[in-house]
Amino acid sequence: MVTAENALSIKEWNRSASELDAYKLRDDFPILKRWVHGKPLVYLDNAASSQKPQAVIDAIEKVYTDSYSNIHRGVHALSQECTSAYEEAREKVQNFLNAAHSKEIIFVRNATEAINLVVSSYGRTNLSRGDEIVISAMEHHANIVPWQILCQQTGAVLRVAPMTDEGELQLDEYKKLLNDKTRFVSIVHISNALGTINPIRDIIAAAHDRGVPVLIDGAQSAPHTSIDVQELDCDFFVFSGHKLYGPSGIGVLYGKTEFLDSMPPYQGGGDMISYVSFEKTLYNDLPYKFEAGTPHIAGAIGLGAAIDYLTSIGLDSIAAYEQELLEYATRALAEIPEVRIIGAAKEKAAVISFLIGDIHPHDVGTILDQQGVAIRTGHHCAQPIMDRFGIPATARASLAFYNTREEIDALIAGIKKVIEVFG
Ligand code: ALA
Repeated sequence: MVTAENALSIKEWNRSASELDAYKLRDDFPILKRWVHGKPLVYLDNAASSQKPQAVIDAIEKVYTDSYSNIHRGVHALSQECTSAYEEAREKVQNFLNAAHSKEIIFVRNATEAINLVVSSYGRTNLSRGDEIVISAMEHHANIVPWQILCQQTGAVLRVAPMTDEGELQLDEYKKLLNDKTRFVSIVHISNALGTINPIRDIIAAAHDRGVPVLIDGAQSAPHTSIDVQELDCDFFVFSGHKLYGPSGIGVLYGKTEFLDSMPPYQGGGDMISYVSFEKTLYNDLPYKFEAGTPHIAGAIGLGAAIDYLTSIGLDSIAAYEQELLEYATRALAEIPEVRIIGAAKEKAAVISFLIGDIHPHDVGTILDQQGVAIRTGHHCAQPIMDRFGIPATARASLAFYNTREEIDALIAGIKKVIEVFG
């Protein structure tokens, strides 16, 4: 455990563990200084939503203080300034994902809306009765339910690639599901409930061998590992701003031009048209065709600031640091006999789902909260995963680059307290 005497050596450990200095970076996040129930906040709920650095808070404040106006519509200075900032944010996302063109970046509300856009626009146009969509057994509800709705509407069929008891995708079984009827593959990159990192290169290549397009749900990967959509060759990639240290209410759909160009609009309204009459309407070019109505202007600009911030640290440093923290936490949890970790994939991100004996995860979360430790409990919007493991819920600690070994020790101390309370 951390004492005043060994605190320094733990700081040194964090420095030597990777280039990244979590203690220094924590200073960028005002909320991490707060206390909860008389204890310093230990925020381990980053898979649900991550905290915001001052740079993001400042960027949002600056929009509303200095140059807020509607975009793409005004000849006046404020509108021009705000339009430039919004479009610069799109270019930042383009560079962040290494997309070939900025018009391939569509601003939406979140990863969920991005998937719904593809399902509604591409799915309804291209899929019909008997066509098959392949997802995996470890999808978030956002990558299940929209496809189920599409299946109800079109008569298409959802196929689910299974996973092992360790929580790894069974790649051979996935490949067996691909056949002449397969029209779309939509797979999560990193499981929010298990931490499993899926072999998306193989998944994409196998689908492409059959000419099947692939969407990657990057909600849990974009904040934690570098993404190159051209190198991956995915056809669509989605993520949310709020998990990427940016604002809530803003997210991204990346799509290859060839797909986006051929897809009908998702929503109609202002900005997505080039000409409207009662007889005929012409749609705007990409990306505006998919951005009907006034968007979350400050959100996009805030997301751009979050991307600048993350890029300045370096996604590779973040990934390396979080791996070390994951290993430290996993080792510490394994030493507590009552703890059972759900999800033991060889390739795993810093998400740890666990159970403590037969104590309900909500009780675990409540007692940890009293210790200042914030985790998520429940089914994590992934009920089929819980069913697969025969459990109703888990407790989940999900880590970020600003977490420290000291905070993992606080989690472990909290878990011991839970065991003490429940005997
Ligand atoms: N999808 C988010 C989570 O995993 C909300 O907690």
